[in-house]
Amino acid sequence: MTNYQLKSYEEYQEAYQRSVEDPEGFWGEIADTFTWRKKWDRVLEWNFEEPNVKWFQGGKMNITENCLDRHLKTRGNKLALIWEPNDPKERFIRYTYRELHEKVCQFANVLKKNGAKKGDRICIYMPMIPELAIAVLACARIGAVHSVVFAGFSALSMADRINDAQCNMVLTSDGLNRGAKQIPVKRVVDEALENCPSVERVIVVERLGWAVNMVEGRDVWFHEEVKGVSKDCPAEEMDAEDMLFILYTSGSTGKPKGVVHTCGGYMVYAQYSFLNVFQYQESDIYWCTADIGWVTGHTYLLYGPLLSGATTLMFEGVPTYPDNGRFWQVCDKFGVTIFYTAPTAIRSLMAGDIDDVLSYSLDSLKVLGSVGEPINEEAWHWYHTHVGKERCPVVDTWWQTETGGIMISTIAGVTPMKPGHAALPLPGIQPILVDSEGNEITENGVEGYLCMKFPWPGMIRTTYGDHERARLSYFSTYKDLYFTGDGAKRDENGLYRIIGRVDDVINVSGHRFGTAEIEEAINHNEHVVESAVVGYPHDVKGQGIYAFVIIKDKPEKEEYLRAEIIETVVEKIGKIARPDKIQIVSGLPKTRSGKIMRRILRKVAEGDTSNLGDTSTLLDPDVVDEIKAGAL
Ligand code: WT7
Repeated sequence: MTNYQLKSYEEYQEAYQRSVEDPEGFWGEIADTFTWRKKWDRVLEWNFEEPNVKWFQGGKMNITENCLDRHLKTRGNKLALIWEPNDPKERFIRYTYRELHEKVCQFANVLKKNGAKKGDRICIYMPMIPELAIAVLACARIGAVHSVVFAGFSALSMADRINDAQCNMVLTSDGLNRGAKQIPVKRVVDEALENCPSVERVIVVERLGWAVNMVEGRDVWFHEEVKGVSKDCPAEEMDAEDMLFILYTSGSTGKPKGVVHTCGGYMVYAQYSFLNVFQYQESDIYWCTADIGWVTGHTYLLYGPLLSGATTLMFEGVPTYPDNGRFWQVCDKFGVTIFYTAPTAIRSLMAGDIDDVLSYSLDSLKVLGSVGEPINEEAWHWYHTHVGKERCPVVDTWWQTETGGIMISTIAGVTPMKPGHAALPLPGIQPILVDSEGNEITENGVEGYLCMKFPWPGMIRTTYGDHERARLSYFSTYKDLYFTGDGAKRDENGLYRIIGRVDDVINVSGHRFGTAEIEEAINHNEHVVESAVVGYPHDVKGQGIYAFVIIKDKPEKEEYLRAEIIETVVEKIGKIARPDKIQIVSGLPKTRSGKIMRRILRKVAEGDTSNLGDTSTLLDPDVVDEIKAGAL
């Protein structure tokens, strides 16, 4: 194991101090353990003003050589990937490092054969099948920028993302399995591509064996293209600061933005954080349940584990199919030792029968992880007691699409653990809390806005095609700081507890949506005049979506109208953004300057209307009484 795995609290403290006093020395030494074709000229150059952040510039490398080739000598026959299908009766698939290397090279050659080259943007819209992992790595192999779009997004969302990045290729499948359902993926791609002139080639992987529409001259089947293609593909040489991928995420305003990560820094940070947080050991079987369509899947299903030479498990299905014991059955089946999931999954299983977990041994488990949203104490204890048998540390990992990797988290068995607390920053991470003026709050036992005052290798470099947007979103709220958009507390012992977003972003089951984005979708419905969306506490999803909607004419049946509005959102964004509650109102609480007072709507949505605060600046205070009376 690489010698930078921290083994004690003292080692953590030492590493942390060193990382602050000599960040370049600290990260330079870690980066030295990777395979570089040419060493970097400079470890770090940065300012948060523009922003301009460059790690290891001048360094030449390819992340797939570090994920695959460098392991071949010592781990060629070790399992790299285990794939468990949706249906437990279907056979699972396993690839050794040698086999995965061949698959990736072959897929990379198929990409090249179809015209892909370094710098191209390639959209991947695929279910959780092995080819998804292989496709992502194949793009990285040839230096094409992957933009994975979660296969639950609608055609319109996909089209927006494709057009924003000007992708010239789409990698997809005929369909997908999700629990008891089968979904026609290619049909969604076809619909999206009606509005994407930049796309010249679509490569389709067969999953369901369905007959699908293939557009002549544009669409090809992977299994036909791959015939006779070489399993040897030298990796493209990349600069550390060349783009590795784009991943779209929602902000508080406008359309989703393309978060850009680059090759070198992301690689170093993915492995460093993976090895430490989970205290990964060579014999571990590691399972991250996230879809590769989200950043968690990028960094901790794929890149982090493979860089570390780990065996990573990929699961096609859902936690509740064929029953609530599916996760635990898979843990026992493969002897999973490290298990990483989201609070929403834990809460949905908590609601079921306790025997669904107690009937599995779960003896192999050593470390449990949580990610995506604050984990409430009840869920934390259930996880710790019934899954971890009070034997496994639970690491509550706080990070973001923009941070590339875990930032604040307990290091399993090494740094303090406290329910509901992400706890301490990893070495190299310098969080601070600020007040609304941007002044640093230095004491403990305080609450504030969470910012970072120093760059780290895995951080966002820009937002694709619009650098100013990155500056405005993250670097302009507080001078010389990266602003996370989260509020946090720091307890008497300096441990962090993330409270949640302080901007107009809702976190639904660990997925981010801007309220503006959902409102825009709702407003597309022809009956809608205006809408306002807020989040509210939801037992399973963490936050639910509550929409207040003004309509043109009173409908015969409100239920039909609600269903229609939901349909509009599903079409514009996807099922995951479906409003949970829609309240028809005749007006919204607005100030005289026309600004919606969301504070009031949030209170109503939370079911707490006892104290709505000052409503004197409202244009029409009566509207508040009506909204209160009609609350759902
Ligand atoms: C937002 C980032 C990080 C990958 C998955 C989500 C919230 C994330 C935690 C946690 C409390 C958390 C924050 C953050 N969040 N992890 N452990 N405790 N909140 O990535 O979609 O970029 O969302 O998720 O609000 O800002 P994302």
